[in-house]
Amino acid sequence: MSPAGQGGHRALPVVPVRHPATPGTSPHLGVVVLVSGSGSNLQALIDAQRAGLPIDIRAVVSNEPAAFALQRARDAGIPGEVLDHRPFHSREAYDAALAGLVAGFDPGLIVLAGFMRILTADFVARYRGHILNIHPSLLPSFRGLHTHRRALEAGERVHGASVHFVTAELDGGPVVLQAEVPILPQDGAEGLAARVLKLEHIIYPCVVAWFAAGRLRLDATDRPALDGQILTRPLRLGVDAPCPGRPA
Ligand code: GRF
Repeated sequence: MSPAGQGGHRALPVVPVRHPATPGTSPHLGVVVLVSGSGSNLQALIDAQRAGLPIDIRAVVSNEPAAFALQRARDAGIPGEVLDHRPFHSREAYDAALAGLVAGFDPGLIVLAGFMRILTADFVARYRGHILNIHPSLLPSFRGLHTHRRALEAGERVHGASVHFVTAELDGGPVVLQAEVPILPQDGAEGLAARVLKLEHIIYPCVVAWFAAGRLRLDATDRPALDGQILTRPLRLGVDAPCPGRPA
């Protein structure tokens, strides 16, 4: 694909977004996973799909050609696509190309799994209610980067991860499910990150499963609803939400 930034803007066809499955009536939910790095959350979804999560991961798209996540996709027989951001002159041009690439896979859900780019409002609007992200903090605390180090520096006692719907506000979309991790006196950023990541691998497939079953939606006013109930605060793993694979 030629970068839109080099050949001017291309008009993209508007592709209707498929809605998640109505329980018991429709085929598996088509999913595109966007990545930039190691892809351990992608792996958790691949493993969950193998274990019966009713999704069809149709493609993994990386902005980083060397991302290990692409290897994971190859190993799982999933098409891996590289859309390097470097040749593009603007975020808008990149996201227009990304939208075109993603639309070709006709997903009902886009999963951001360590995708280290800020999406434009246009991209987000196009897939409103159909993009999930995982962020390594208890949002709204510590949006952005270096969350583990910042949580330690702030003297927090509890840290964690959040799965949220994506809106135009960076790491600001409504949170569905969080997992908490106690911060121990001896913790450094790396050890803390590893403990948080383990729980990420539980809560992300869990939320994707709710979405795939048609149980989770974003309503017209950007509030998430699970089983028809508006979530007025994030659910917490082990407190409100039973998720398969959660440690005892
Ligand atoms: C995770 O910590 C995720 O929360 C954040 O980026 C990291 C990605 O890790 N958004 P991986 O590539 O899934 O291993």
